[in-house]
Amino acid sequence: MKTQMIAAGLAGLLACTLAGCAGGGAGGGANPSTQVETTIGVAMPSQASQRWIADGSAVKAGLEALGYKVDLQFANDDIPTQTQQIDQMITKGDKVLIIASIDGTALTSQLQAAADAGITVIAYDRLIRDSPHVNFYVTFDNYKVGVAQATSLLYGLGLTDAKGVPVVDPPAGPLDIELFAGSSDDNNASFFFNGAMDTLKPFLDSGALRVGSGQTAFAQCAILRWEQATAQTRMENILASTYGGDGTGLAGVLSPFDGISRGVITALQGVGLGPTLAEGLPVVTGQDAEIASVKLINDSVQFSTIFKDTRKLADQAVVAASAFLQGNKPVANDTTTYENGVKTVPAMLLGVDTVNKDDIASLLISSGYYTQAQVDAGQ
Ligand code: BGC
Repeated sequence: MKTQMIAAGLAGLLACTLAGCAGGGAGGGANPSTQVETTIGVAMPSQASQRWIADGSAVKAGLEALGYKVDLQFANDDIPTQTQQIDQMITKGDKVLIIASIDGTALTSQLQAAADAGITVIAYDRLIRDSPHVNFYVTFDNYKVGVAQATSLLYGLGLTDAKGVPVVDPPAGPLDIELFAGSSDDNNASFFFNGAMDTLKPFLDSGALRVGSGQTAFAQCAILRWEQATAQTRMENILASTYGGDGTGLAGVLSPFDGISRGVITALQGVGLGPTLAEGLPVVTGQDAEIASVKLINDSVQFSTIFKDTRKLADQAVVAASAFLQGNKPVANDTTTYENGVKTVPAMLLGVDTVNKDDIASLLISSGYYTQAQVDAGQ
């Protein structure tokens, strides 16, 4: 494999493809008459969350624009379904697999089979663990997502400005908060939680913040499969055990995902809090800028979310797949962070943005991610 670095973005690749660059290679789409059909398998975890549908279609569209055939599968958040789908991609002779895993530790034998068949594996958004056969990882900076979530919580509580700089005259503490984390089988979940906890720590240590329930360990806060209903139940139990059943004193909730945020908000409103922030609903964070949550933010119910532009991540997956198929190595901007239990996987990390009500127009509508009508309708 050549070690030449590919600096071109998707636009460059596309231009090259359309212009018929020499050495495009099989599946490079350079010349349809000589092109051997190359299929790329794309395994997404579920269609239950809007972001994976958007990721799946953006990756598919980008690869098809380069002339590749795409086998896109969603696995209903069911591990055996995903392993079967990947087995079939390998049997059918797909040349590259782009995988957003459900359980990052459950694909070791699939990745061995892929390696035996000479198939390249790109981990998409979530790191695949316990295998030497992960060739590349495209994701957002997951630790920084957690930092951004906690910073937003601190800002919403009036302890810092929007950038996380402590205010001169903070509200008298301790302010009570509760913590939620993602699915413990998703490698990202601990990155989000660690980024958040490192950011909250000085405020917990100083007594400005307190976790009322005392549940601060990742295992206590984790919500299996990021399920909204599970989050709602946990919040209801904490409201009953710690906040007098009616939420008295609860100021904010760290939530790592919009679906979890909506479960939390349902529980909070269910005991009579809010219904909006102005009417005393606790500050709730989020992630993914799902349309239902963007509407809640626009309606001053949910405080914030973290916007991960799935179009940009999809572009990176397409650039990486295309580079591998042309015998090159994709460019990594991180070669130290993502140790998967067996190797450190070279990664391309993208940045994220925090979205409050005032940012919806500039970050989500101007960029064409949503229309105003979608934000108004919440779908
Ligand atoms: C993703 C998040 C998403 C979560 C739940 C994580 O692996 O990085 O963007 O909110 O899964 O789908």
